[in-house]
Amino acid sequence: MSYHKHLFICTNGDPTQGDKCAGKGSLALHQLVKQHFASDQSGGNLAKGEVRIRINRSGCLGFCKQGICAVLYPSGRWFFQLKNDEASARLLIESCSREYSETIP
Ligand code: FES
Repeated sequence: MSYHKHLFICTNGDPTQGDKCAGKGSLALHQLVKQHFASDQSGGNLAKGEVRIRINRSGCLGFCKQGICAVLYPSGRWFFQLKNDEASARLLIESCSREYSETIP
């Protein structure tokens, strides 16, 4: 299956400690976003067509002090200082959905 968009959330580091993204809760944030799209591939925001958004875990994205970091392709939009919370998950979900509806006719 091919995807229209890929969201990469950095899950680098020790999830039990430290200042890398995993230590800040990025694995749980990844799961929140992934579960949303697994249960609602429309993102709640697309009028037509099939939405295919892949939510990926990534290695270090190179901005550890600004983590949790994520980047969305093909737009290349970056996200910094995300948290393991609903607000950050909502930001990522809405960004995926909004950009999708802007770029796909
Ligand atoms: S550990 Fe996430 S950007 Fe480096």
